[in-house]
Amino acid sequence: MFPIHRPRRLRANKTIRRMVRETSLSPDDLIYPLFVTYGTGIRKEIPSMPGCFQESLDNLAGSAKEIFSLGIPSVILFGIPERKDEKGSGAYDEHGVVQNAIRVIKDAVPDLYVITDVCMCEYTSHGHCGVIEKGDVANDPTLELLALEALSHVTAGADMVAPSDMMDGRVEAIRLVLDEGGFPAVPIMSYAAKYASAFYGPFREAAESTPQFGDRRSYQMDPANRREAIREVALDIEEGADIIMVKPALSYLDIIADVRDAFDVPVAAYNVSGEYSLVKAAAQMGWIDEQRLMMEVLTSIKRAGADLILTYFAKDAAKILNA
Ligand code: PBG
Repeated sequence: MFPIHRPRRLRANKTIRRMVRETSLSPDDLIYPLFVTYGTGIRKEIPSMPGCFQESLDNLAGSAKEIFSLGIPSVILFGIPERKDEKGSGAYDEHGVVQNAIRVIKDAVPDLYVITDVCMCEYTSHGHCGVIEKGDVANDPTLELLALEALSHVTAGADMVAPSDMMDGRVEAIRLVLDEGGFPAVPIMSYAAKYASAFYGPFREAAESTPQFGDRRSYQMDPANRREAIREVALDIEEGADIIMVKPALSYLDIIADVRDAFDVPVAAYNVSGEYSLVKAAAQMGWIDEQRLMMEVLTSIKRAGADLILTYFAKDAAKILNA
């Protein structure tokens, strides 16, 4: 071996490193999450997610233009409705906060690709992702509401829907209702392997969607399970998912790699709120180099096999990639 083989030869300067680099990030890979709230004139920073905001409709056109001009092709929308109830009726209201946001964004920037998160937890008074029966989320009755929600988003102009609830059979239920509703060409990105994770903590503050009792372990996956992710993804693809997602990303790079290996559909990974907050908090303490850590995190998610990354870092990363 040595001295014939010297791997350092290909690391000697930045040009050769650039030439042999295996993974590259592009703004094309990024999807930026937006939190849309009711009211007007609102742009409220989320305390645990510095640099991220709850925004009212009147601020969305400006945000959409900024995002698209950075080269980011897509946003995913989350809604904070004025009123919540047992059945989450704000989720499938034709004039709900997300439905209105879709119209505003598509009007302002028609080419910005609008994805919507399809779930009940932001709209239910109890904060769970579906209808409650006997103290737990009832699967099949929830499917009808999710299908209504997806159809209302697409009717308002959404380009793609992304169910994040983890009910069994929801991809098929949504596919059927979209096809019947005249939208056979609208794709579904399913949160296929979504784990019951403590990394969602800051998001629940941002989306005001913390469950009022219990937790989500009866529907989201057990973080200890690896093989089960393959089964979940296979089911969603059979049901008609066009893109599948692994969530969270950073503690689940093995899952991303497994899924990339096993299937040929595009793979998305969600670099979730807690992953963002950890980096931001350590940077605020002066303990790490924020920009380098951000790019390293995103690169590792791409290297593991993700084609698309949903990330609160999208704007900051795009600025660096465009520089
Ligand atoms: C809704 C939903 C959640 C996230 C995305 N969609 C929260 C949850 O399941 O509790 C989390 C995103 C993040 O933490 O950034 N079900």
